[in-house]
Amino acid sequence: MYILGFESSCDETGVALVHTEKGLMAHALHSQIDMHKAYGGVVPELASRDHIRRVVPLTRQVLQQAGVSLAQVDAIAYTAGPGLNGALLVAASVAQALAWSLDLPAIAVHHLEGHLLSPLLAEPAPSFPFVALLVSGGHTQIMRVDGVGQYELLGETLDDAAGEAFDKSAKLMGLPYPGGAHLAKLAQQGDANRFQLPRPMLHSKDFDFSFSGLKTAVLTTIRKLEASDALDQQALADLAASVQAAIVDVLGKKAIKALQATGLKRLVVAGGVGANQQLRQYLHAQMQKLRGEVFFPPLNLCTDNGAMIAFAAAQRIRAGLIDLQDPALRTYQFKVQPRWDLTQV
Ligand code: KG4
Ligand code: ZN
Repeated sequence: MYILGFESSCDETGVALVHTEKGLMAHALHSQIDMHKAYGGVVPELASRDHIRRVVPLTRQVLQQAGVSLAQVDAIAYTAGPGLNGALLVAASVAQALAWSLDLPAIAVHHLEGHLLSPLLAEPAPSFPFVALLVSGGHTQIMRVDGVGQYELLGETLDDAAGEAFDKSAKLMGLPYPGGAHLAKLAQQGDANRFQLPRPMLHSKDFDFSFSGLKTAVLTTIRKLEASDALDQQALADLAASVQAAIVDVLGKKAIKALQATGLKRLVVAGGVGANQQLRQYLHAQMQKLRGEVFFPPLNLCTDNGAMIAFAAAQRIRAGLIDLQDPALRTYQFKVQPRWDLTQV
């Protein structure tokens, strides 16, 4: 069964074709990073307009790549939230219109469920149950996952997300948007021990996080360096390494703590920050010590993409959570949900 999936919740337009048995057939992506760079962050109105421009050509590209025609598609999936309202409306309306015109079921997918299940697109794929560390630009959560649709929130950030902490620190350091990958690159030349940055809630008894204090510490450090005329390239690299170390330390230790508390041996990391090599190395080393396993999505599917959306719909169908004959999937009336709790899916 072929599922065509659409993603437009933020600054990436993603389209993909997934087969319920054969897996990912083709996917195409357009990133708006170059467009938003000049503004230092995502401009929602520009994002929506660009999604509109990209979505149809990307769809043609995917179908052509897969050698599959629209007539062969069995269901249409799209991100219904969370995300930017106007941006979400693009994938939602295109998917619903396409489904209506082809008389196909239209499936609303939760963006974070897409991220959460994306490590199952890699080889080897983790089996259930596992602990998931979901680290994106907008969310930081630890979940216990017992199966598709069985998600229990163990902890989450009380303020900034981990990706946001990377991005805001990077911005203060004058790095381009989105700063996570730029900061990580600069950190390669830095000494992570030079600046002692806060690791809030590291020793709290729960699995919650707080990252908002980090940007204040980064700002204070920059001001001090400026005042003593010591803000050179090496200082910036050392600061980048220290920021990365602080974020990786908190994420890594809390994730391990959640594994120990649940008694599970498998950890799955998903979302844009899952692309961070330092986090990957730290968790690989820790899990080896604990005789457990850690799984990541394929590197190119860590950040937003259409593949994870089509794939999440396919997993729900396979798990029997979606009945394609359900008339509710053929009303072609819809709303998007800029705020949406994953445990409510
Ligand atoms: O999952 P994602 O594409 O978007 C959301 O759904 O939010 O994640 C984007 C986030 C950004 O904050 C970006 O800076 C961060 O992932 N990111 C990284 C790296 N690559 C992307 N953070 C740290 N290291 C990286 N290599
Ligand atoms: Zn995302």
